[in-house]
Amino acid sequence: MKILITGGTGFIGSALIRQLRSYRRAEIVNVDALTYAGNPESLPGLEHDPGYRFERVDIRDREALERVFREHRPDAVMHLAAESHVDRSILGPGVFVDTNVVGTQNLLDVARAYWEGLDDRPDASGSSPRERFRLHHISTDEVFGDLPPDAPAFTEATPYAPSSPYAASKAASDHLVRAWHRTYGLPVVITNCSNNYGPYQFPEKLIPLMILNALAGKPLPVYGDGGQIRDWLHVDDHAEALWQVLQHGEIGRTYNIGGDAERTNLQVVEALCETLEMIQPTDIGSGYRALITSVTDRPGHDRRYAIDSRRIQHELGWRPAHSFEQGLRETVQWYRDHPEWVARVQSGAYREWIEANYADR
Ligand code: NAD
Ligand code: DAU
Repeated sequence: MKILITGGTGFIGSALIRQLRSYRRAEIVNVDALTYAGNPESLPGLEHDPGYRFERVDIRDREALERVFREHRPDAVMHLAAESHVDRSILGPGVFVDTNVVGTQNLLDVARAYWEGLDDRPDASGSSPRERFRLHHISTDEVFGDLPPDAPAFTEATPYAPSSPYAASKAASDHLVRAWHRTYGLPVVITNCSNNYGPYQFPEKLIPLMILNALAGKPLPVYGDGGQIRDWLHVDDHAEALWQVLQHGEIGRTYNIGGDAERTNLQVVEALCETLEMIQPTDIGSGYRALITSVTDRPGHDRRYAIDSRRIQHELGWRPAHSFEQGLRETVQWYRDHPEWVARVQSGAYREWIEANYADR
């Protein structure tokens, strides 16, 4: 099986590719524009893997996408490429609409033309390439908006009410994917996932930012009162869920994916401080906690997200393998053990490497 993965050099895409290639589950064509969030150093060793190909292509570039489909002839598409950071979407929403909405429409158009041209005669496996084709759209729980403290967790039937420009752009992309299924019959599956954490996450997101700031003795900036709740999922558990949905999900159906780990931001940061204290005790007077600083809240900040994952758990037998405490320990340890990856991201050296190696693409 050959899968075209968009955004495979980002945080979740790279975890997915590392997992798929380490189990030799599928050949991969990674289509990624290498924005600031794309880092080929998150895919160590894959440059020599014959089952892995990389295409530096922007999903907004229709001709380039058509060429990629023509040349690689994928059996399935997993669409992760997106602008993903809420704070950036507040400062500059334009590129979020361009990539997440227009880019997704472009991909849908190209994938649809490709799928319509696939052979619809059964082969030795008993089904046709056209019947087997899937487009899996990877989305977020942020499309459901702000969840009151005592309300039940988001199900697949929860109405959309996005708050941030990022969330609105992802909601729009989900609607486009459903429309391409309903109108043109494109065989799609959709997943909406909660906050991921784990290795190789760009240190603008809460957990890696806090780990690296703490290790450097810098303030830990908690937005507002830190009482906002997120449901945390280890990225490797997410990658496994995505694989199960691609393999066994019902066409046209949506699956919510969560970690069963609702925590306030303050609880997360305090847990990080405790974990760091065990791994690398600090000589700061009252420990890493002394670095926690309340800063101005994010505009439009959603107070709570929580995911009801019963559908994927009951129908596909998936459940998270990591507890939050174990996952957090492993993540802290990973950042501590990979100072080179961290330093090259923080200094911008990874960008110089990209421009030297992919300047012509
Ligand atoms: P990321 O920001 O780490 O990576 C995004 C990747 O997409 C990067 O490699 C980037 O180079 C690429 N990209 C951006 N614009 C592109 C374009 N125009 N053309 C081609 N490639 C482009 O994001 P992530 O955290 O890995 O998230 C991946 C997907 O999962 C996104 O769709 C996001 O909305 C969704 N998601 C993320 C989380 C999370 O907690 N991180 C949770 C739920 C859903
Ligand atoms: O819920 C899924 C979403 O999770 C994904 O769709 C997004 O792509 C992903 O970025 C993430 O969005 P969040 O906004 O929840 O993630 P972030 O790490 O930016 O922030 C997590 C929480 O921590 C949020 O309530 C804001 C808060 N925060 C964040 C940062 C960066 C702070 O308090 N201080 C910070 O410095």
